[in-house]
Amino acid sequence: MLKTMKSSSCSTCFPWLVTMSLCLIARSQLTADFYSTSCPNLFSVVRRQVFSAVKTESRMAASLLRLHFHDCFVNGCDASVLLDGNDGEKFAFPNINSARGFEVVDAIKTAVEGTCSGVVSCADILAIAARDSVVLSGAPSWKVLLGRRDGLVANQTGANTNLPGPNESIGIIAAKFAAVGLNLTDVVSLSGAHTIGSAKCAVFSHRLFNFSGTNAPDKTLLDPAMVSDLQARCPVNGDGNKTTALDRNSVDLFDNHYFKNLVNGKGLLESDQFLYSSDEAVSTTRSLVEVYSNNQQLFLNDFVTSMVKMGNTSPLTGSSGEVRKNCRVVNS
Ligand code: HEM
Ligand SMILES: *[C@@H]1O[C@H](CO)[C@@H](O)[C@H](O)[C@H]1NC(C)=O
Ligand SMILES: *[C@@H]1O[C@H](CO)[C@@H](O)[C@H](O)[C@H]1NC(C)=O
Ligand SMILES: *[C@@H]1O[C@H](CO)[C@@H](O)[C@H](O)[C@H]1NC(C)=O
Ligand SMILES: *[C@@H]1O[C@H](CO)[C@@H](O)[C@H](O)[C@H]1NC(C)=O
Ligand SMILES: *[C@@H]1O[C@H](CO)[C@@H](O)[C@H](O)[C@H]1NC(C)=O
Repeated sequence: MLKTMKSSSCSTCFPWLVTMSLCLIARSQLTADFYSTSCPNLFSVVRRQVFSAVKTESRMAASLLRLHFHDCFVNGCDASVLLDGNDGEKFAFPNINSARGFEVVDAIKTAVEGTCSGVVSCADILAIAARDSVVLSGAPSWKVLLGRRDGLVANQTGANTNLPGPNESIGIIAAKFAAVGLNLTDVVSLSGAHTIGSAKCAVFSHRLFNFSGTNAPDKTLLDPAMVSDLQARCPVNGDGNKTTALDRNSVDLFDNHYFKNLVNGKGLLESDQFLYSSDEAVSTTRSLVEVYSNNQQLFLNDFVTSMVKMGNTSPLTGSSGEVRKNCRVVNS
């Protein structure tokens, strides 16, 4: 796994020979200025498209952020999530009727191709769009590292096995993060992404009623007022596609309220609440949830560190992969 915090300081320390050997060891293959000559208007073109999409529908910020995450966890950040086809990742369980924003990515790609054709990968577009979405939701900005190329295959099996599920334990989720080089701090900070966006009844309704069989009732704390509200919203045999805010306090604002919710038993997904309330949390994630709930600045700083780290997952660089013309299909 590439150590991106070190690599970002490499560009500045490069002229100093004394630190150069250190830099070479830690150097990431991705760089912030990758397109500075080949596509100088890239950032403004992407930002304009993301801005317009989020203005039309504020949830789109969350959807674009999630796409980058779902891309990076399957075959690395290679835009494999964008590929169409029945065997695509779009049809894997975590994505079907759930992952969204593909039309917005098309619009961004078209705009980017209009200013510099055949140069910018779809994987990099996802990384920039995720950053812009977070910033448009009120968080401070950061430098996105670029230079990823697009993969040639989708991996539906990989999407089904690598992506975390909403009823999974900390242990299972931590193992899935560890598989892409992310640790428990990253699990907690990146889960803070659930400060924006929505989830459908189908992914949390097992927490609301006492079903028999495999859907055991949720044993973790869930605020009683929130339970009754959600029971009305997501009745048994109701529309499983109906959505509700992941952070009921401020659905469109990128703040630390997600962590305040967990401390107050108001995490929407079981996997969210586990980070604070499960037995496993006591020796793993609970203390960091508490810290973030009281320190928004630390959360935002750590979130950025973890996003850069996640964005460095097995990138295709150099002449590996390709720069797709259309993000939905590999070049012929
Ligand atoms: C820690 C393990 C995680 C689990 C189990 C998980 C699970 C989920 C689930 C089940 C949904 C609702 C999907 C739906 O109802 O259609 C969701 C939404 C979302 N997730 Fe996660 N997620 C996790 C981590 C992350 C990470 C690391 C990010 C990004 C850095 C992220 C970003 C989002 C966003 C922004 C949404 C809202 C999407 C929208 O409104 O379109 N999640 N997640
Ligand atoms: C798909 O993902 C799985 C799990 O990460 C991996 O073992 C497998 O090699 C991948 N297959 C392809 C064709 O990339
Ligand atoms: C999560 O839910 C799925 C489908 O409802 C079920 O098959 C699976 O066993 C559950 N996993 C855990 C860890 O509870
Ligand atoms: C996780 O990794 C970061 C560096 O990326 C490090 O600062 C942090 O201490 C690690 N956390 C844990 C729990 O290992
Ligand atoms: C589930 O059943 C238990 C025991 O019957 C009860 O204490 C609990 O309140 C029920 N939970 C919900 C969400 O209805
Ligand atoms: C959600 O909608 C899709 C298509 O509109 C449908 O195929 C699916 O069964 C629905 N899912 C749930 C949980 O109701």
